[in-house]
Amino acid sequence: MRTGAEYREALRDGRRVWVMGEGWAGDVTAHPATRAMVEEYAAWYDRAYVERCIATPSEVERTYIIVGRDDNVVRGAFALRQRAAHRLDCGYVLGRQWWRQRLMTEVLTEVTVWALRQPSVFRIGAVCDVENTGSARVLEKSGFVREGLLRRWLLHPNISDEPRDCFSYARVR
Ligand SMILES: CC(C)(COP(=O)(O)OP(=O)(O)OC[C@H]1O[C@@H](n2cnc3c(N)ncnc32)[C@H](O)[C@@H]1OP(=O)(O)O)[C@@H](O)C(=O)NCCC(=O)NCCS
Repeated sequence: MRTGAEYREALRDGRRVWVMGEGWAGDVTAHPATRAMVEEYAAWYDRAYVERCIATPSEVERTYIIVGRDDNVVRGAFALRQRAAHRLDCGYVLGRQWWRQRLMTEVLTEVTVWALRQPSVFRIGAVCDVENTGSARVLEKSGFVREGLLRRWLLHPNISDEPRDCFSYARVR
């Protein structure tokens, strides 16, 4: 289940929508005539996402909300999954207005250092779409090493209906 932020992002795909009496709306997530409807759906996705997070047993996956140190405003989410006693993997997302401020590099580096200090944990991994340059860069800056290509690994509905190739990354001790 995607988040509201992912839903908004999926709508920013270059589409143009004709709004009666207004003309073409380039970005339906920002246009005054369509923004409220988009937000209603985004809230629905967020509720469903939060419900799924809460329903998932904490020994399988925990989703943490990322907030600003000074303002406590939500910036994104970080999911940590226990795949085996010695092995974690993770996933992350930031709201678009918080991109490229080195936030996720800071979060991932801190979480990784903490995780690999736990006596039972030897590996933390992540995958990212082959075209997700930003995520790959975050992983590399956080000390993850690219291990290989997982072909047809994940569905990313905002890019394609078909499973996508992903890079596999990990940091180990
Ligand atoms: C991917 C994502 C988490 C990156 O977080 P971020 O906080 O913006 O990344 P940072 O600011 O820490 O950037 C780290 C490096 O990546 C680069 N980078 C970030 N986004 C980039 C992009 N879209 N294209 C190219 N480089 C990018 C930065 O310039 C920086 O490199 P530098 O320090 O050498 O300049 C964020 O764009 C996001 O939430 N995207 C949508 C969800 C997503 O893709 N999640 C990951 C799924 S695997």
